[in-house]
Amino acid sequence: MQTPIYDFISAYENKQPIRLHMPGHKGLGILGVENRDITEFFGADNLYHAEGIILESENNATSLFGTRHSFYSTGGSSQCIGAMLYLALLHHQKPSGRNVILAGRNAHKALLHAAAHLDLDIEWLYPKTKEHLCSCSVTPESLEEVLLNMKELPMAVYLTSPDYLGNMADIKGIADVCHELELPLLVDNAHGAYLQFLEPSMHPMALGADLCADSAHKTLPVLTGGAYLHVNETAMVSYETQARRALSFFGSTSPSYLTLQSLDLCNKWLLEDADFSSTVQMVAECKERLLAQNVTILPSEPLKIVLDCQKTGLSGFAMEEELLQENIVCEFADDEVVVCMISPMTEHMELAILEAVVAPFYEISDVVTELMFVEQALEHILEPIQKPTPTMQLVTHEQKMSIRNAMLSPSETIKTTESLGRICALPAVSCPPAIPIAISGEVITEDMMEQFLAYGIAEVDVVVTGSPVKSEE
Ligand SMILES: Cc1ncc(COP(=O)(O)O)c(C=O)c1O
Repeated sequence: MQTPIYDFISAYENKQPIRLHMPGHKGLGILGVENRDITEFFGADNLYHAEGIILESENNATSLFGTRHSFYSTGGSSQCIGAMLYLALLHHQKPSGRNVILAGRNAHKALLHAAAHLDLDIEWLYPKTKEHLCSCSVTPESLEEVLLNMKELPMAVYLTSPDYLGNMADIKGIADVCHELELPLLVDNAHGAYLQFLEPSMHPMALGADLCADSAHKTLPVLTGGAYLHVNETAMVSYETQARRALSFFGSTSPSYLTLQSLDLCNKWLLEDADFSSTVQMVAECKERLLAQNVTILPSEPLKIVLDCQKTGLSGFAMEEELLQENIVCEFADDEVVVCMISPMTEHMELAILEAVVAPFYEISDVVTELMFVEQALEHILEPIQKPTPTMQLVTHEQKMSIRNAMLSPSETIKTTESLGRICALPAVSCPPAIPIAISGEVITEDMMEQFLAYGIAEVDVVVTGSPVKSEE
C-alpha cells in the first residue's frame, strides 16, 4: 500500500530546502522529529479541502474500513464527535423547537462541548439497572421503548461503544431500531478502531451505524490525536460531502502533519503487518490464566483487561499504585476497577509480568469475601474492615439550564462539599474517564457530590447565582 503523505515529506526532507514557511522550528530541534513536521505549503494538500496526498491516504483508510469515506482528524475523536453532531444538525434539524440528540449517559465530555457549540439539547438514556459511571447498557428493546415514548423523535441517537470498561452495545440491533424510525445512529467508537480488523468485523461501520468516531491513537499504532470520522456506505451521501466542513468547525487550521503521517503509515501496517488475531488470542490466554488464579476479570472487548479489585480488599486506586511500583502504568483506575489496554504492540512478556504482579493479590480473595460477608452480618458490632465503597452509579437529575447556557454563564469554582443544589456550569469530570458526573445545566445532588469525592473532584464550577443568563423552566 502507498504512503503518500509520508513519502511526500521524505522527498521534501531529502531536498533539504530553505524553509521559509511555518513552523518556526524550520525542521530543527531537540525532539528530533521537527524535520518531518511541516505545514500546508504547495503540494502538501489541505486536510479540510483534501484533493492530493491527504485524499489519497484517506482513500487507503476508506478501503481498509469499507466505508463511504473515512476522514482523518488530528484532533482525536473529540473533533469527530463534534463533526458528527454538526452533520446531524445540518441534515436533521427541526423547523421549530429544540434540536435534541438522544444519548447514552456514559458519554465523553466531548459530546457536551459539541452540544454547547451547536446549541443542541441532549436527552439521556439511562441503564435499566444501576451501573458503573462508565457504563450504560442500551439494548435495541430498551432504546425502542424510549423512542416510542418520546413526544418528538430526536435528531439522532448517540451511543458510546465500546465504553471505557470495554462493554459493547448491540450496534446492529440498535441501528435497525434507529433506521426503522429513520433516525441516524452516531457511535463514539473512540476505543474500537481495531474492531474492524477482527474476524468477523465488530466495527460499528460493519454493524450499520451511520457515522462513527474512532480514536486511531487509542488502539492502533498512531500518534496521539490521530482519529477517523467514518461515514457508512449506507448513510446519506451528503454526510460525506459536508464532513470536511463539519470537521473544520471543530479543528485547528494547522493540523499536525506528524499525526497525518502516522495515520498514513498505519494504513500500510494494517494491510501488510497487523495481526490482531494473535493479539486477541494472547489476551484471551492471559485472561484464562488470570481467572485460573482466582483473579476477577470483568467481561470486555477483546483488547481490554478489566480487573475487578473488590475481592482483594484493595481499591482499584490502590491496585494501580501496586502496579506502578512494578513499573506498570495502566489506563484507568477507580475505587473498584483497573483497566489495562492492550494492542498488537504489547509483548507476551509484558502480560506475563502483569499476571505475576496481580495474581498474588487474589490469593487471599476468598478470605476477604468471607470477611466482608461476616462484616455485613455483624455490621453493628464489628469495626468496619477495609473494603471498597459500593458501586458508583449514574443518577438521574434535574436540568435547569441548557448545556450551552450553563457553559456560557458566569461561573465560580466552589468546594464540592458546598455545591449541593447549585447548577453545574462546566461538566464535572475526572479524566480519565472524562465522563461527566454532572452535566452542565444540571442541579447538583447529594449522589453527585458523593461521586465527585469518590473520583477525587474537590472543586466544581457552578453558575453564579443570579447570573444574567436565565434558567429555563
Ligand atoms: C469514550 C471516549 N470518547 C471520546 C474520547 C475523546 O477521544 P480523543 O482523546 O481521541 O479526542 C475519549 C477519550 O478518552 C473516550 O474515552
